[in-house]
Amino acid sequence: MTNDSASSPAAATGATRPLACLILAAGKGTRMKSDRPKVLHPIAGKPMLSHVIAACEALAPSALAVVVGPGMEDVATAAAPWPTAVQATQNGTGGAVLAGLPAVANRADGGFDGDVLVVFGDTPLVTPETLHALVERRGGADDPAVVALGMEPRDPGRYGRLVLDNTGGLERIVEYLDASPAEREIGLCNGGLMAFDGRRLPALLAGLSADNAKGELYQTDTVAIARAKGWTCAHATGPEAEALGVNGRAQLADAERQMQDRLRAHWLDNGVTMTAPETVFLAADTVFGRDVTIGPYCQFGPGVTVGDRVEILAFSHLEGATVAAGARIGPYARLRPGATIGEAAHIGNFVEVKAAEFGAGAKANHLSYIGDASIGPRANIGAGTITCNYDGVFKHRTEIGDRAFIGSDTMLVAPVRVGHDAMTGSGSVITADVPDGALAVERTAQQTRPGLGKRLMDKLRSRKAARATGQEES
Ligand code: UD1
Ligand code: CA
Repeated sequence: MTNDSASSPAAATGATRPLACLILAAGKGTRMKSDRPKVLHPIAGKPMLSHVIAACEALAPSALAVVVGPGMEDVATAAAPWPTAVQATQNGTGGAVLAGLPAVANRADGGFDGDVLVVFGDTPLVTPETLHALVERRGGADDPAVVALGMEPRDPGRYGRLVLDNTGGLERIVEYLDASPAEREIGLCNGGLMAFDGRRLPALLAGLSADNAKGELYQTDTVAIARAKGWTCAHATGPEAEALGVNGRAQLADAERQMQDRLRAHWLDNGVTMTAPETVFLAADTVFGRDVTIGPYCQFGPGVTVGDRVEILAFSHLEGATVAAGARIGPYARLRPGATIGEAAHIGNFVEVKAAEFGAGAKANHLSYIGDASIGPRANIGAGTITCNYDGVFKHRTEIGDRAFIGSDTMLVAPVRVGHDAMTGSGSVITADVPDGALAVERTAQQTRPGLGKRLMDKLRSRKAARATGQEES
């Protein structure tokens, strides 16, 4: 594909126009009352900003930059490999575009040969479809210099309002604080994001002034500036939810709820059964195979991949884990980062697994901690088994061979290896390697005293009775 349309705006069409995205994230987010920059608060297990970047990336932009405030290095790290531009003072959305444009510019006049899409870093629900609709409208035959996202919320509140001319073209955008009572009656609101013709953008930005209620440079003023130059402007419509800007923790929770609904709907559409979907919490990157079933009250943190036909029973918590086909997890199981569960393996109730591999068909069904370990195929871990992996300073590994049988309540003091087909006796504290095929038992010999149990119990019962009647001697 070539791009030789720079001298002729009208020649720019659909697929051949390059795209640059600017994500505005310089806002301090004071209403979050947080030490963390607003756009780094997570939704479905990943920073809000990463959701916005992913939505932009779906449109395959040739450039993308995130506009941050001074000292927001953490945001730059989250944005990498995309660059950031610093907006030195927060003088409005127009100021932010001015600060960001040089980071994507590819023209001598500071513009961009193609479309420039401006998206807010605190609107995590924005979808590629809506971004695409803006870009698509930008490529319309009337060649609009600016395209705004219009929406009709039930409560227009303090959104900016889109003022249309009598042909339906976008005439200007008026901010709520600057709007007349009549303008405040307009139901068509500004969703915030905008698409610009990158070649005309420098001229539009040059016309901005802070002569308004907030004393800021508004990117929305580019519409009136374009119209004064005789250029058309337009709007594309999108759902209000996608413009939901997260300003406080209540809106963060609201965005989380909507994102969870989306993720659930996606997986219900893609072969996953959920008994009570409203109680299942997913991460944006959770991946399920076919015919997975998920019981009530399960939570998935980042980095979970679940294979076909896996059954995840109620109250299980998974994070950074890989579960192979046909495995059964839970109820009440906890898979922590690095848990790799093999085909048809079983991880049962109150079993915690961290950085450990279970081979195919291996089982740990009850009450165990298995960390920093590898468990061979078809090995069986008895109830109450614990890998003592931490000596207070270092972590050590436990290796359990194929088909090994670990007796209930075995303490495996790592580093230690139990061989293939080996066994440990219940209650053993295993501190030395157990060779293949061996049985290791570590516990004192049992002593049995005939009659002593009953005699002792009778004595205790009579003492209790004496206490109750106040006759016990001291
Ligand atoms: C903006 C729109 C308004 C629209 C609303 C939709 C303008 C002037 N107004 O208003 O018409 O209805 O969004 O939610 O565009 N930012 C910076 N630097 C700044 C100021 C803002 O990076 O100097 C970033 C913020 O971090 C935020 C985004 O731009 O991500 C939007 O800023 P915000 O102040 O929330 O704009 P609104 O007043 O909501
Ligand atoms: Ca806002």
